[in-house]
Amino acid sequence: MTQVICHRGYSGRYPENTLLAFRKAIETGADGIELDVHLTKDGKVVVIHDERVDRTTDGTGFVKDMTLRELQRLDASGGKSAPQRIPTLEEYFSLAVPAKLRTNIELKTGLFDYEGLEERVWDIVRAFHQEDRVIFSSFHAQSLLRMKSIAPEAPCGLLCSGQLADPCSTLRELGLQAFHPWFLRVTGSMVRRMRDSGLEVNPYTPNDPATLTWLLSLGVTSVITNYPGQAMALRRLLPGGTKA
Ligand code: G3P
Ligand code: MG
Repeated sequence: MTQVICHRGYSGRYPENTLLAFRKAIETGADGIELDVHLTKDGKVVVIHDERVDRTTDGTGFVKDMTLRELQRLDASGGKSAPQRIPTLEEYFSLAVPAKLRTNIELKTGLFDYEGLEERVWDIVRAFHQEDRVIFSSFHAQSLLRMKSIAPEAPCGLLCSGQLADPCSTLRELGLQAFHPWFLRVTGSMVRRMRDSGLEVNPYTPNDPATLTWLLSLGVTSVITNYPGQAMALRRLLPGGTKA
């Protein structure tokens, strides 16, 4: 059955990538959570989407130029809730580990290389004994290849907003296990070929009911959505859609 992964936590209703959004995601009973990580000036792994803090907090500047202490003084609620701090990856796992869900850690290395990010992320995953519950993804293949060299057993998914002629062979050549396409690039034959090859297809970010139903019917491995409650309700309506 297709898994439902909460994009940046339950970001459709709560401030993205905050402990509040993660707690609400867990409360839905969804299968997993997707989050984005960057490295601070003092080498800490923090959960935030953009390279800059400007869009999602009341501060300004690059994450890489600020210490954790400076970052955690900011309010990441966006006025949608009581004040929220930018969480560390450790704070996320402290909350999420008991829920036993899958965590999709997106390595945001597209603009800055964040030397050592992959090592630090893997150390944290190991410290929380989450090796079998994580999947890494990135738009930056180089970052995934670095992760594979550190943790060959860790599943890694290539994020892609554009059209890839033959994603199966690209993944095979790179030694990756999953394809994370923009949802409008998904086709039935892509899903069949991937699944026949034992590869995952995890589209982002379908949010409307028609698209979610279409992807669930195709049998993608997971949907990465802002509205996990809606996705699970739609999944229950499909044949065989009730969780065992
Ligand atoms: O990992 C899926 C999705 O999060 C990728 O795009 O920009 O939301 O991080 P973005
Ligand atoms: Mg992301």
